[in-house]
Amino acid sequence: MSKAPTHLPKHVAIIMDGNGRWAKKRHLPREAGHYAGMGAVRETVRAACDMGLENLTLFAFSSENWKRPKTEVGALMALFRVYFRSDMDELVERNVRMRIIGHRGRVAGDIHQMILDSESRTAQNTGMNLTFAFDYGGQEEIVAATRELARAAAEGRLDPETITPELFAQRLFTNALPEPDLVIRTSGEHRLSNFLLWQSAYAELLFVDTLWPDFGRDALQKAIESFAARERRFGAVNSEAVA
Ligand code: IPE
Ligand code: IPE
Ligand code: MG
Repeated sequence: MSKAPTHLPKHVAIIMDGNGRWAKKRHLPREAGHYAGMGAVRETVRAACDMGLENLTLFAFSSENWKRPKTEVGALMALFRVYFRSDMDELVERNVRMRIIGHRGRVAGDIHQMILDSESRTAQNTGMNLTFAFDYGGQEEIVAATRELARAAAEGRLDPETITPELFAQRLFTNALPEPDLVIRTSGEHRLSNFLLWQSAYAELLFVDTLWPDFGRDALQKAIESFAARERRFGAVNSEAVA
């Protein structure tokens, strides 16, 4: 058993990238990489629960991923069905509360229903908040929140002067969650790809070379240790500099 991390972030968010390259290295189709990626999701969720992490958010499908070939999108959707069917019982047993953030209106009806069922089935759970960003885009999310506030203002229900960052954040999909303090991206790419743009304003970013299917308990532990060693300032100066 690895030792418990000393300083746990409140919210870890992960851009799970590199499934295709993992498969390519093995001369397998990209879909095989996504399947292996599901195993990494399972292991990472279990590890996060065991560590006592309060919030874990996983980027599973972006609003731009619809641009991929139809067969790949179909395979990814099929995997989500498999995941919901095979893992829900364990998540319920682990007292996990599931949420899905994203557009919702564009996915197939049966997946939409699975999303609703998984959320209602775990709504009373008090353990880790597990959120999947699925058909999610940060810019879309910000625009939707803006549109809602603009409509309220146009209809005279909202004074524009009362719009604050806090009020704005309440209109985002993540309104029930604290902001992520650690955002991890696997596969060596150094970008956010439209993930939690507003919410990551002060997140610590960690880019690791590991391809997502190879991520798991040890990699999560290492990431959290690296977070614990960082100095966060939020625009201020640290206490030693003040003294
Ligand atoms: C991440 O792996 C999974 C999704 C985006 C759904 P990729 O499929 O992007 O893998 P690479 O980046 O091609 O290796
Ligand atoms: C980001 O990965 C989306 C997910 C991990 C779900 P991509 O592989 O789609 O991102 P880009 O295209 O390399 O920026
Ligand atoms: Mg990728």
